[in-house]
Amino acid sequence: MTTLIINIKELLQVRETPVYKVSGPEMAILPTIKNAFLILKDNLIADFGAMENLPEITADKIIDASGRIVLPTWCDSHTHIVYAGNREQEFVDRINGFSYEEIANRGGGILNSAKKLNETSEEEIYEQSRLRLEEVMNLGTGAIEIKSGYGLTVEGELKMLRVIKKLAENYPVAIKATFLGAHAFPLHYKENKAGYIEEIITKMLPEISKNKLADYIDVFCESGYFSVEETEKIMEAGIQFGLKPKIHVNQFNSIGGIQSGVKFKALSVDHLEIMNIEDIEALKDSETMPVALPSCSYFLSIPYTPAREMIKAGLPLALATDFNPGSTPSGNMNFVVATACIKMKMTPEEAINAATINGAYAMGVSKTHGSITKGKKANLIISKPISSYYQIPYAFGSNLIESVIIEGKLLA
Ligand code: NIG
Ligand code: FE
Repeated sequence: MTTLIINIKELLQVRETPVYKVSGPEMAILPTIKNAFLILKDNLIADFGAMENLPEITADKIIDASGRIVLPTWCDSHTHIVYAGNREQEFVDRINGFSYEEIANRGGGILNSAKKLNETSEEEIYEQSRLRLEEVMNLGTGAIEIKSGYGLTVEGELKMLRVIKKLAENYPVAIKATFLGAHAFPLHYKENKAGYIEEIITKMLPEISKNKLADYIDVFCESGYFSVEETEKIMEAGIQFGLKPKIHVNQFNSIGGIQSGVKFKALSVDHLEIMNIEDIEALKDSETMPVALPSCSYFLSIPYTPAREMIKAGLPLALATDFNPGSTPSGNMNFVVATACIKMKMTPEEAINAATINGAYAMGVSKTHGSITKGKKANLIISKPISSYYQIPYAFGSNLIESVIIEGKLLA
């Protein structure tokens, strides 16, 4: 099946030769072709170029994209979309003056979601989660990482990971699974933290590895959650089971999690709302992708990741949603890109690079996703007629997407 897209007003993120991440000043460069064509063969990008060079081909389907922008689908490298119910009461509690920390300390927060998850059947969790996945696909997400972490029991964590596996089997988007057993300490382990870590290492990890249920291991490294020492112990165990780390760090405090992540060659370190100079230094020349989650900063009214300082220091930066019921009940990557521009002062070019090519790197799919490159997946966003791609962050509340193509097929 050959699809030809013609008269594209501007084709974004065009990389003739494969690029797996962009850093520092390269982030400001978004290669594009104006008045372009794009040829899709089955589920892959076969060719592209300027309209005047359009080769003679016979296509099964021709899409006229006059006035429209085409770009690769978003790569959302950090989500928790598998969960049960919601936490809207906590949202109202925060409006009424309670902090995220106060709510967590009285048994709300992650433990509230864990209770709901363990009380909900696997089928029902799948149903709720697939609706979220379908929603974000229609918003242009073509690759997504999904974490466990609301089970906090052997059965609960396995249940979540099985749901992620089933989503990956049933949907054409690329899905990577991350085991986040170390998301919070369950109540009955409050006085026996070492006991819960033992359970993660000796009970959860072997089962997960045996059933090939995860690609990555995550830890919420934060005061009141997992210390740096505990984080290292869990990352080390995960690595022994073949899971590369991708960790939550520096959301509320800078306690050394970034340095640990870099030391253990984490694929990414995520959140980064609170960053000091040493944290930025630690990331220089590392393999670890820093990931900012601006919708979380927006929803919790906490600082935004200091993107300008990080890019100025030569670092790469990726953007993701953090879609979860507590800190970010939104999986809209378009809003993430807009918020990064508006609040973090990233340029549209930087934000689009961060949400495509660098997002792909942060979830280990940059060989197949994140740019318009021959041989990569035919995963595309076709915009409505718009004046320029600046509209994407500028018109922050509007849905500018006309259609989404995943693996060469238009979403219904
Ligand atoms: O990434 N910070 C830790 N975990 C999630 C929020 C979890 C929750 O509140 O349910 C996050 O923001
Ligand atoms: Fe998260």
